[in-house]
Amino acid sequence: MGFKPFVTTALAIMGMAFAAQADENAKLVIDGQTMITQTKAPAFVENLDEIYSGWVFRSDETQALQLDDFDNPGFVFLDQGIDLFNTVDGSEGKSCASCHENVEDFAGLRAKMPRIKDGKLQTMEEQVNECRTTRMGAEPWKYSGSQMTAVTALISLQSRGMPVDVAVDGAAAPFWEKGKEIYYTRYGQLDLACANCHEDNYDTMIRADHLSQGQVNGFPTYRLKNAKLNSIQGRFKGCMKNVRAKPFKEGSEEFKALELYVASRGNGLSVESPSVRN
Ligand code: HEC
Ligand code: HEC
Repeated sequence: MGFKPFVTTALAIMGMAFAAQADENAKLVIDGQTMITQTKAPAFVENLDEIYSGWVFRSDETQALQLDDFDNPGFVFLDQGIDLFNTVDGSEGKSCASCHENVEDFAGLRAKMPRIKDGKLQTMEEQVNECRTTRMGAEPWKYSGSQMTAVTALISLQSRGMPVDVAVDGAAAPFWEKGKEIYYTRYGQLDLACANCHEDNYDTMIRADHLSQGQVNGFPTYRLKNAKLNSIQGRFKGCMKNVRAKPFKEGSEEFKALELYVASRGNGLSVESPSVRN
Protein backbone atom coordinates (compact mmCIF):
# COMPACT_ATOMS: atom_id res chain seq x y z
CA MET A 1 0.00 0.00 0.00
CA GLY A 2 2.92 2.31 0.62
CA PHE A 3 3.41 5.77 1.97
CA LYS A 4 0.58 8.28 2.00
CA PRO A 5 1.82 11.84 2.51
CA PHE A 6 -1.61 13.49 2.37
CA VAL A 7 -2.92 14.41 5.79
CA THR A 8 -5.77 16.85 6.39
CA THR A 9 -5.44 19.49 9.07
CA ALA A 10 -8.39 18.00 10.92
CA LEU A 11 -6.71 14.61 10.98
CA ALA A 12 -3.60 16.25 12.33
CA ILE A 13 -5.72 17.85 15.07
CA MET A 14 -7.21 14.46 15.93
CA GLY A 15 -3.77 13.05 16.40
CA MET A 16 -0.77 12.82 14.18
CA ALA A 17 -1.59 10.70 11.21
CA PHE A 18 1.49 8.95 9.87
CA ALA A 19 2.13 6.13 7.50
CA ALA A 20 1.98 2.55 8.70
CA GLN A 21 2.32 -0.66 6.77
CA ALA A 22 -0.36 -3.28 6.76
CA ASP A 23 0.85 -6.84 6.44
CA GLU A 24 -0.62 -7.77 3.10
CA ASN A 25 0.70 -11.29 3.36
CA ALA A 26 -1.14 -12.19 6.54
CA LYS A 27 -3.73 -14.86 5.82
CA LEU A 28 -7.07 -15.24 7.52
CA VAL A 29 -7.84 -18.95 7.55
CA ILE A 30 -10.70 -20.09 9.76
CA ASP A 31 -11.55 -23.77 10.06
CA GLY A 32 -9.47 -24.50 6.98
CA GLN A 33 -11.35 -21.90 4.96
CA THR A 34 -9.30 -19.03 3.53
CA MET A 35 -11.07 -15.67 3.69
CA ILE A 36 -10.62 -13.16 0.90
CA THR A 37 -9.18 -10.19 2.80
CA GLN A 38 -7.76 -8.41 -0.23
CA THR A 39 -9.05 -8.23 -3.79
CA LYS A 40 -9.50 -5.95 -6.77
CA ALA A 41 -11.87 -3.06 -6.08
CA PRO A 42 -15.25 -3.20 -7.82
CA ALA A 43 -15.20 -1.08 -11.00
CA PHE A 44 -17.60 1.49 -9.53
CA VAL A 45 -15.18 2.34 -6.71
CA GLU A 46 -13.35 5.08 -8.54
CA ASN A 47 -10.47 5.90 -6.23
CA LEU A 48 -9.27 2.49 -5.04
CA ASP A 49 -7.46 -0.27 -6.91
CA GLU A 50 -7.55 -2.83 -4.14
CA ILE A 51 -9.97 -3.40 -1.30
CA TYR A 52 -8.96 -4.81 2.09
CA SER A 53 -10.81 -6.29 5.00
CA GLY A 54 -10.39 -4.36 8.25
CA TRP A 55 -8.72 -7.51 9.61
CA VAL A 56 -5.58 -6.71 7.55
CA PHE A 57 -4.98 -3.53 9.57
CA ARG A 58 -5.31 -4.99 13.03
CA SER A 59 -2.40 -5.94 15.29
CA ASP A 60 -1.09 -9.51 15.28
CA GLU A 61 -2.78 -10.13 18.64
CA THR A 62 -6.18 -8.91 17.46
CA GLN A 63 -5.85 -10.78 14.18
CA ALA A 64 -5.10 -14.00 16.04
CA LEU A 65 -8.40 -13.84 17.93
CA GLN A 66 -10.28 -14.32 14.68
CA LEU A 67 -8.31 -17.35 13.51
CA ASP A 68 -10.02 -19.78 15.83
CA ASP A 69 -13.67 -19.68 16.86
CA PHE A 70 -12.71 -20.86 20.35
CA ASP A 71 -10.58 -17.74 20.78
CA ASN A 72 -13.09 -15.42 19.11
CA PRO A 73 -14.95 -13.64 21.93
CA GLY A 74 -17.88 -13.00 19.56
CA PHE A 75 -18.88 -16.64 19.84
CA VAL A 76 -20.15 -16.19 23.40
CA PHE A 77 -22.82 -13.98 21.89
CA LEU A 78 -23.57 -16.48 19.15
CA ASP A 79 -24.61 -18.93 21.83
CA GLN A 80 -27.01 -16.29 23.10
CA GLY A 81 -28.22 -15.86 19.52
CA ILE A 82 -29.02 -19.58 19.30
CA ASP A 83 -31.00 -19.38 22.55
CA LEU A 84 -32.93 -16.34 21.35
CA PHE A 85 -33.63 -18.04 18.03
CA ASN A 86 -35.29 -20.90 19.89
CA THR A 87 -37.18 -18.79 22.46
CA VAL A 88 -40.94 -18.32 22.09
CA ASP A 89 -41.96 -14.68 22.29
CA GLY A 90 -45.03 -12.60 21.42
CA SER A 91 -48.77 -13.17 21.05
CA GLU A 92 -48.49 -15.91 18.41
CA GLY A 93 -46.56 -18.29 20.65
CA LYS A 94 -43.75 -18.72 18.16
CA SER A 95 -39.97 -18.64 18.11
CA CYS A 96 -37.83 -17.92 15.06
CA ALA A 97 -37.20 -21.64 14.89
CA SER A 98 -40.94 -22.38 14.63
CA CYS A 99 -40.75 -21.12 11.04
CA HIS A 100 -37.02 -21.23 10.30
CA GLU A 101 -36.18 -24.76 11.32
CA ASN A 102 -32.57 -24.68 10.10
CA VAL A 103 -30.59 -21.53 10.63
CA GLU A 104 -28.26 -22.85 7.90
CA ASP A 105 -30.99 -21.95 5.41
CA PHE A 106 -29.89 -18.34 5.82
CA ALA A 107 -26.60 -19.11 4.04
CA GLY A 108 -25.90 -16.40 1.49
CA LEU A 109 -28.20 -13.80 2.97
CA ARG A 110 -25.56 -11.67 4.75
CA ALA A 111 -23.63 -11.29 1.49
CA LYS A 112 -26.67 -9.69 -0.18
CA MET A 113 -27.73 -7.31 2.59
CA PRO A 114 -28.93 -4.63 2.59
CA ARG A 115 -31.25 -5.44 -0.31
CA ILE A 116 -34.35 -4.21 -2.05
CA LYS A 117 -37.54 -5.85 -0.85
CA ASP A 118 -40.96 -4.66 -2.02
CA GLY A 119 -39.35 -1.59 -3.53
CA LYS A 120 -37.72 -0.55 -0.25
CA LEU A 121 -34.19 -0.79 1.00
CA GLN A 122 -34.11 -3.39 3.77
CA THR A 123 -31.38 -4.11 6.31
CA MET A 124 -31.05 -7.41 8.13
CA GLU A 125 -32.17 -5.77 11.37
CA GLU A 126 -35.37 -4.61 9.69
CA GLN A 127 -36.04 -8.11 8.33
CA VAL A 128 -35.66 -9.60 11.81
CA ASN A 129 -37.95 -7.01 13.36
CA GLU A 130 -40.48 -7.48 10.57
CA CYS A 131 -40.68 -11.18 11.48
CA ARG A 132 -40.95 -10.30 15.16
CA THR A 133 -43.73 -7.75 14.82
CA THR A 134 -45.83 -9.13 11.94
CA ARG A 135 -45.29 -12.88 12.37
CA MET A 136 -44.65 -13.36 16.09
CA GLY A 137 -46.71 -10.54 17.55
CA ALA A 138 -43.61 -9.58 19.54
CA GLU A 139 -41.99 -6.24 20.31
CA PRO A 140 -39.25 -5.16 17.89
CA TRP A 141 -35.73 -5.47 19.22
CA LYS A 142 -33.62 -2.33 19.66
CA TYR A 143 -31.76 -1.73 16.40
CA SER A 144 -28.26 -2.37 17.75
CA GLY A 145 -29.24 -4.01 21.04
CA SER A 146 -27.62 -7.17 22.34
CA GLN A 147 -30.50 -9.42 21.25
CA MET A 148 -30.48 -8.05 17.72
CA THR A 149 -26.70 -8.28 17.25
CA ALA A 150 -26.63 -11.82 18.68
CA VAL A 151 -29.25 -13.00 16.18
CA THR A 152 -27.90 -11.08 13.19
CA ALA A 153 -24.45 -12.54 14.01
CA LEU A 154 -25.95 -16.03 14.01
CA ILE A 155 -27.61 -15.41 10.65
CA SER A 156 -24.48 -13.76 9.22
CA LEU A 157 -22.20 -16.61 10.32
CA GLN A 158 -24.07 -18.88 7.90
CA SER A 159 -22.53 -16.83 5.06
CA ARG A 160 -18.99 -16.77 6.39
CA GLY A 161 -16.47 -17.13 3.58
CA MET A 162 -18.90 -16.12 0.86
CA PRO A 163 -18.02 -13.02 -1.16
CA VAL A 164 -20.02 -9.89 -0.42
CA ASP A 165 -22.29 -9.27 -3.40
CA VAL A 166 -24.80 -6.52 -2.74
CA ALA A 167 -26.82 -5.23 -5.68
CA VAL A 168 -26.07 -1.67 -6.71
CA ASP A 169 -28.10 -1.32 -9.89
CA GLY A 170 -31.76 -1.59 -10.86
CA ALA A 171 -34.08 -0.72 -8.00
CA ALA A 172 -31.05 -0.33 -5.68
CA ALA A 173 -29.48 2.43 -7.79
CA PRO A 174 -31.19 5.49 -6.24
CA PHE A 175 -30.40 4.26 -2.71
CA TRP A 176 -26.82 3.52 -3.69
CA GLU A 177 -26.42 7.02 -5.20
CA LYS A 178 -27.75 8.57 -2.03
CA GLY A 179 -25.34 6.49 0.07
CA LYS A 180 -22.45 7.49 -2.13
CA GLU A 181 -23.28 11.15 -1.73
CA ILE A 182 -23.30 10.79 2.06
CA TYR A 183 -19.97 8.92 1.95
CA TYR A 184 -18.30 11.89 0.27
CA THR A 185 -20.03 14.63 2.31
CA ARG A 186 -18.03 16.31 5.07
CA TYR A 187 -19.70 16.37 8.46
CA GLY A 188 -19.11 17.76 11.92
CA GLN A 189 -16.80 20.26 13.51
CA LEU A 190 -13.82 18.45 12.02
CA ASP A 191 -15.43 18.71 8.58
CA LEU A 192 -14.47 15.23 7.43
CA ALA A 193 -16.17 12.78 5.08
CA CYS A 194 -15.99 9.00 5.44
CA ALA A 195 -13.83 9.13 2.31
CA ASN A 196 -11.27 11.49 3.87
CA CYS A 197 -10.33 8.81 6.37
CA HIS A 198 -11.26 5.48 4.82
CA GLU A 199 -10.35 6.21 1.20
CA ASP A 200 -7.72 8.98 1.24
CA ASN A 201 -5.88 7.95 4.38
CA TYR A 202 -6.35 4.25 5.02
CA ASP A 203 -3.19 2.45 6.12
CA THR A 204 -2.09 5.46 8.18
CA MET A 205 -2.14 5.77 11.96
CA ILE A 206 -4.67 8.04 13.62
CA ARG A 207 -3.95 8.27 17.32
CA ALA A 208 -3.18 4.64 18.18
CA ASP A 209 -5.51 3.29 15.51
CA HIS A 210 -4.45 1.85 12.17
CA LEU A 211 -6.98 3.24 9.71
CA SER A 212 -8.74 0.69 7.51
CA GLN A 213 -10.99 1.21 4.52
CA GLY A 214 -14.01 1.07 6.83
CA GLN A 215 -15.40 -2.10 5.27
CA VAL A 216 -18.46 -3.81 6.74
CA ASN A 217 -17.82 -7.42 5.65
CA GLY A 218 -17.03 -8.45 9.24
CA PHE A 219 -20.20 -7.24 10.93
CA PRO A 220 -21.57 -7.74 13.46
CA THR A 221 -18.11 -7.17 14.91
CA TYR A 222 -16.84 -8.02 18.36
CA ARG A 223 -14.89 -5.01 19.58
CA LEU A 224 -12.30 -5.31 22.32
CA LYS A 225 -13.06 -1.70 23.18
CA ASN A 226 -16.63 -2.36 24.37
CA ALA A 227 -16.52 -6.15 24.71
CA LYS A 228 -19.70 -6.78 22.74
CA LEU A 229 -21.01 -7.29 19.24
CA ASN A 230 -21.41 -4.06 17.29
CA SER A 231 -23.80 -3.36 14.43
CA ILE A 232 -22.82 -1.68 11.18
CA GLN A 233 -24.86 1.41 11.84
CA GLY A 234 -23.70 1.57 15.46
CA ARG A 235 -20.17 1.83 14.05
CA PHE A 236 -21.21 4.55 11.59
CA LYS A 237 -22.65 6.48 14.53
CA GLY A 238 -19.34 6.23 16.39
CA CYS A 239 -17.38 7.50 13.40
CA MET A 240 -19.73 10.46 12.99
CA LYS A 241 -19.40 11.29 16.68
CA ASN A 242 -15.62 11.17 16.34
CA VAL A 243 -15.74 13.99 13.81
CA ARG A 244 -18.07 15.79 16.23
CA ALA A 245 -21.10 15.54 13.98
CA LYS A 246 -24.65 14.73 15.04
CA PRO A 247 -25.02 11.17 13.74
CA PHE A 248 -28.01 10.00 11.73
CA LYS A 249 -30.35 7.65 13.56
CA GLU A 250 -29.94 3.89 13.33
CA GLY A 251 -32.46 2.61 10.79
CA SER A 252 -32.74 6.05 9.14
CA GLU A 253 -32.93 6.31 5.37
CA GLU A 254 -29.53 8.04 5.43
CA PHE A 255 -27.76 5.27 7.32
CA LYS A 256 -29.48 2.54 5.31
CA ALA A 257 -28.35 4.12 2.05
CA LEU A 258 -24.86 4.58 3.47
CA GLU A 259 -24.81 0.94 4.58
CA LEU A 260 -25.70 -0.21 1.08
CA TYR A 261 -23.01 1.97 -0.45
CA VAL A 262 -20.30 0.99 2.03
CA ALA A 263 -21.22 -2.70 1.74
CA SER A 264 -20.92 -2.47 -2.05
CA ARG A 265 -17.39 -1.10 -1.74
CA GLY A 266 -16.57 -4.47 -0.20
CA ASN A 267 -18.10 -6.58 -2.97
CA GLY A 268 -15.67 -9.46 -3.41
CA LEU A 269 -14.35 -9.62 0.18
CA SER A 270 -15.43 -12.59 2.28
CA VAL A 271 -18.16 -12.25 4.85
CA GLU A 272 -16.21 -12.63 8.14
CA SER A 273 -18.98 -12.27 10.70
CA PRO A 274 -18.38 -12.25 13.59
CA SER A 275 -15.06 -10.50 13.12
CA VAL A 276 -12.82 -9.18 15.91
CA ARG A 277 -11.62 -5.59 15.96
CA ASN A 278 -10.18 -3.24 18.56
C1 HEC B 1 -11.52 10.88 11.34
C2 HEC B 1 -11.43 9.71 10.56
C3 HEC B 1 -12.70 8.89 10.32
C4 HEC B 1 -13.83 9.27 9.65
C5 HEC B 1 -14.14 10.62 9.02
C6 HEC B 1 -14.67 8.11 9.60
N1 HEC B 1 -14.08 7.07 10.24
FE1 HEC B 1 -14.71 5.16 10.27
N2 HEC B 1 -13.13 4.64 11.44
C7 HEC B 1 -12.13 5.48 11.84
C8 HEC B 1 -11.21 4.77 12.69
C9 HEC B 1 -9.96 5.34 13.34
C10 HEC B 1 -11.68 3.45 12.78
C11 HEC B 1 -11.04 2.28 13.54
C12 HEC B 1 -9.91 1.71 12.72
C13 HEC B 1 -10.40 1.14 11.43
O1 HEC B 1 -10.98 0.03 11.43
O2 HEC B 1 -10.27 1.83 10.38
C14 HEC B 1 -12.88 3.39 11.95
C15 HEC B 1 -13.63 2.24 11.74
C16 HEC B 1 -14.69 2.16 10.88
C17 HEC B 1 -15.38 0.93 10.53
C18 HEC B 1 -15.05 -0.46 11.06
C19 HEC B 1 -14.23 -1.26 10.06
C20 HEC B 1 -14.03 -2.69 10.47
O3 HEC B 1 -13.26 -3.38 9.77
O4 HEC B 1 -14.59 -3.14 11.47
C21 HEC B 1 -16.37 1.27 9.66
C22 HEC B 1 -17.38 0.33 9.02
C23 HEC B 1 -16.31 2.69 9.46
N3 HEC B 1 -15.28 3.20 10.19
C24 HEC B 1 -17.16 3.41 8.63
C25 HEC B 1 -17.16 4.81 8.52
C26 HEC B 1 -18.15 5.57 7.79
C27 HEC B 1 -19.32 4.98 7.02
C28 HEC B 1 -17.82 6.89 7.93
C29 HEC B 1 -18.58 8.09 7.43
C30 HEC B 1 -19.87 8.31 8.05
C31 HEC B 1 -16.60 6.93 8.71
N4 HEC B 1 -16.25 5.66 9.07
C32 HEC B 1 -15.91 8.09 9.00
C33 HEC B 1 -11.97 6.79 11.47
C34 HEC B 1 -12.88 7.51 10.71
C1 HEC C 1 -44.54 -17.32 11.67
C2 HEC C 1 -43.35 -17.67 10.90
C3 HEC C 1 -42.10 -16.85 11.13
C4 HEC C 1 -41.47 -16.57 12.30
C5 HEC C 1 -41.90 -16.91 13.69
C6 HEC C 1 -40.26 -15.87 11.95
N1 HEC C 1 -40.16 -15.75 10.60
FE1 HEC C 1 -38.61 -14.99 9.57
N2 HEC C 1 -39.61 -15.26 7.83
C7 HEC C 1 -40.84 -15.86 7.70
C8 HEC C 1 -41.25 -15.83 6.31
C9 HEC C 1 -42.55 -16.38 5.75
C10 HEC C 1 -40.19 -15.21 5.61
C11 HEC C 1 -40.11 -14.93 4.11
C12 HEC C 1 -40.78 -13.59 3.95
C13 HEC C 1 -40.73 -13.02 2.59
O1 HEC C 1 -40.00 -13.52 1.72
O2 HEC C 1 -41.41 -11.99 2.42
C14 HEC C 1 -39.19 -14.88 6.59
C15 HEC C 1 -37.99 -14.29 6.28
C16 HEC C 1 -36.94 -14.15 7.17
C17 HEC C 1 -35.59 -13.77 6.81
C18 HEC C 1 -35.09 -13.47 5.40
C19 HEC C 1 -34.75 -14.78 4.73
C20 HEC C 1 -34.35 -14.64 3.31
O3 HEC C 1 -33.62 -15.52 2.82
O4 HEC C 1 -34.74 -13.67 2.64
C21 HEC C 1 -34.86 -13.74 7.96
C22 HEC C 1 -33.39 -13.37 8.11
C23 HEC C 1 -35.76 -14.08 9.04
N3 HEC C 1 -37.00 -14.33 8.51
C24 HEC C 1 -35.38 -14.14 10.36
C25 HEC C 1 -36.27 -14.43 11.41
C26 HEC C 1 -35.91 -14.34 12.80
C27 HEC C 1 -34.53 -13.97 13.33
C28 HEC C 1 -37.03 -14.67 13.50
C29 HEC C 1 -37.19 -14.64 14.99
C30 HEC C 1 -36.89 -13.39 15.67
C31 HEC C 1 -38.07 -14.98 12.54
N4 HEC C 1 -37.57 -14.79 11.29
C32 HEC C 1 -39.34 -15.41 12.86
C33 HEC C 1 -41.56 -16.41 8.72
C34 HEC C 1 -41.27 -16.33 10.06
